[in-house]
Amino acid sequence: MASNPRADASRPQPVAARFARSQFLNDAFQRRLAHWNRVRLSPSLPGPDWAERLDDDHVMLRLEGAFLEELRAHVACAAAAVPTDPDGFIAWFEGLLDRGPGQGDALFPWIANEATRDQIRWFLEQEAAGEAGFDDLVAMTQVKLPTQAKLELARNYWDEMGRGNVKGMHGPMLNGLVATLDLEPTIETTVWESLALANGMTAMASSRRYAWHSIGALGVIELTAPGRSACTADGLRRIGLSERERRYFSLHAVLDVKHSEDWNREAIRPLVEEDPRRATAMAEGALIRLRCGERCFARYRATLWG
Ligand SMILES: [Fe+2]
Ligand SMILES: [Fe+2]
Repeated sequence: MASNPRADASRPQPVAARFARSQFLNDAFQRRLAHWNRVRLSPSLPGPDWAERLDDDHVMLRLEGAFLEELRAHVACAAAAVPTDPDGFIAWFEGLLDRGPGQGDALFPWIANEATRDQIRWFLEQEAAGEAGFDDLVAMTQVKLPTQAKLELARNYWDEMGRGNVKGMHGPMLNGLVATLDLEPTIETTVWESLALANGMTAMASSRRYAWHSIGALGVIELTAPGRSACTADGLRRIGLSERERRYFSLHAVLDVKHSEDWNREAIRPLVEEDPRRATAMAEGALIRLRCGERCFARYRATLWG
């Protein structure tokens, strides 16, 4: 690895140094974090090296925390200005659909109307490798939540699970599209911006100190996914995929509109009513997610458009 993000990752740095060159927003660190996430979240068996692996985990958890704190620092000013009363917060949150970072990116009309089959394949390979698994993120986030929010996350998770029907499960549905298009999503061939998005989402969902951030980040995915999904479904139809083959995207173009309304009403609102400090944390989480997406779209355009 070229740089050593381990050196003083969790210590505060002068502002100029922090923004001059990030220790975390680069290939080497994001690949390392992606590999660690893959291993640590995989079901496994106890081995004789369990104590050494905990030592490694501790180093990586510190680095992951410092990465998240850098992402927070980028959005903290904007989030501090967001209303913390329930009505004001929900209005601001819903407004992210039009005004949020990365919204209205020119990439998506291009995917719908112009991109070739190979360009769409490259785009989806990046997206698939960066996919952290919405179902697991929801499951990790819901631990010990207050009842009303917990129930909403449970309903959302049940939809992710196809309501108990394997053919309706969202994860396998995406895997089916990956197979149809003969994609090979791997960490090595994925741009760091896409890995950073998945790593950031995983960091928020798996650390309880970022639980409210995760609620905001997952909620803003539900809010903004329908527009991007509809464009992607249109592009897939244009290059000849059947309704069944493009179902992952045509489904999310519609279902996530309802998911978003339910999430805002049943999870976000009551949580903010209970403690207005959570509004600022959710605002940070939502903005972190959107800024990560914005970086992805810019990188995809730079690669696809030259
Ligand atoms: Fe889904
Ligand atoms: Fe959804």
